Amino acid sequence: MASNEDDKTTEADEALKGEAKAAPADASDADHDEDAEVETSGGSADHDDAGDDAGDDEGGDESADDDHGGHDDDDHGASAQGELYGVLAEFDTPGGLVKAARKVKDAGYTEFDCYSPFPVHGIDDAMGIKRTVLPIVVFCGGFAGTVGGAFLQWWMNAYNWPWNVSGKPAWSIPANVPIAFETTILAAVLTTFFGMWIFNKLPQVWHPLFRLDRFTKVTDDGFMLGIEARDRRFDLDRTTELLKKAGATEVEPAFLDPDPAAKVMPRWLWGVIIATTVMALIPFALIFKARASKSSQPHWHIFGDMDFQPRAKSDSAFDEFPDGRANRGEIAGTVATCSSGSSLPCDDDRYVKSDTAFYQGIEAGQWITGLPRQIDVSEALVARGKQRFEIYCTPCHGYDGQGAGIVSERVKKLGGAWPARNLVDAKAGVVTMPNGQLFNTISNGFNTMQGYASQIPVDDRWAIVMYVRALERSQNATLDDVPADRRGELR
Ligand code: HEC
Repeated sequence: MASNEDDKTTEADEALKGEAKAAPADASDADHDEDAEVETSGGSADHDDAGDDAGDDEGGDESADDDHGGHDDDDHGASAQGELYGVLAEFDTPGGLVKAARKVKDAGYTEFDCYSPFPVHGIDDAMGIKRTVLPIVVFCGGFAGTVGGAFLQWWMNAYNWPWNVSGKPAWSIPANVPIAFETTILAAVLTTFFGMWIFNKLPQVWHPLFRLDRFTKVTDDGFMLGIEARDRRFDLDRTTELLKKAGATEVEPAFLDPDPAAKVMPRWLWGVIIATTVMALIPFALIFKARASKSSQPHWHIFGDMDFQPRAKSDSAFDEFPDGRANRGEIAGTVATCSSGSSLPCDDDRYVKSDTAFYQGIEAGQWITGLPRQIDVSEALVARGKQRFEIYCTPCHGYDGQGAGIVSERVKKLGGAWPARNLVDAKAGVVTMPNGQLFNTISNGFNTMQGYASQIPVDDRWAIVMYVRALERSQNATLDDVPADRRGELR
């Protein structure tokens, strides 16, 4: 084998000399000439050329034999190889490869590459490879993700479909952080993934060096350096000489395949790609079909124990207990302590919920008209009521309480009607409504208005009642409400 290879090298060398003459320094001209040559050899397919090609595929020894096999006198011997791609040099050790790479770089070559079975330390430096720009590109991708994520949320929440949720701002940075973070990661990852492919010029299913048998050693014990003929310093003899001096054990020229079809992806590979893509879509198609169609068969339970859990719903029958009920009711002797978020101490006995005036606005079966004893009227409490009102009530009732909040207005604009009650108009009924009933409306809602008991603590609800009263007073004021000594200022 080794001797065969040697033969082949020298023979190819010779062939190449002829070729090198035929290929002038002017690159475009060279291309032209080669193309013509390729065509000639393609046209004469009944020649041994075809056999030569096949031999190449079959294995090293054979192709070497083929080369011997009477081609020597064949004029087309060289052109059957196709255009010169470059030279491939083999080195004994990784160290030798690094040294040679440095020499080749120092000689001014740029179009060359090293091939080794494992990463060789220091090779990038020796070859003069610069740091990749991928991190910068990934940073830009990630940053675009951050900005894009934030913009997306602004556009949806504050511009395209603004929605008032309890008076919260439509767009605020803190709420945007998680999604902007996610889009950052997503964009950065996609940039990394596709950047890797693009910068490495992948996918590449074909390479001229694959045509050399020697090159297969690269995956095992071969340390190779290839210089491309398109390098402006390339000259077959001198480049070969340089590599030999740099310690190469073998230097071998590499040629492109004369058949242009060898450079394109084979048809069957396209077939495989299309077939696997289609097959990969089948599960999704099945899921889609299952979701979109009806069946009389019960569906599959992939996690049966999650779909059928042994548990009792609150008002269902349950044999384990003597009374046959799942609901155990209130445990005797327990009392409610305080409402969450309360400003009063939780051990205060006034928080026992039997105090209906405070908790329900009812005393002796009637709405209370005054205030429960727990509520001390103060400016601070009215201010608290104003603040809570503006969070929870203004979206519908408006800041002035007249019912023109943003939600009602939007419904109107969209052609519907959902007016919130005018809370301050003396004729609308709320002004004369007992405090207890107003408290109850806030707690439990009224008709289409939902209750706020779960969101607003009891004393805040009373604070809102007081603020509604203040709103009503301010908008239904008469001259009698103005202190006598200041009435003069009104005119
Ligand atoms: C999501 C919109 C919305 C919010 C928020 C809202 N309301 Fe209302 N409210 C309504 C609508 C609508 C009505 C009229 C309901 C009806 O008649 O069907 C109403 C009615 C009322 C009434 C009259 C009840 C009756 O018996 O006539 C009062 C009082 C009232 N709201 C107080 C409040 C207070 C106080 C708040 C803040 C805690 C509040 N609402 C928050 C929509 C809202």
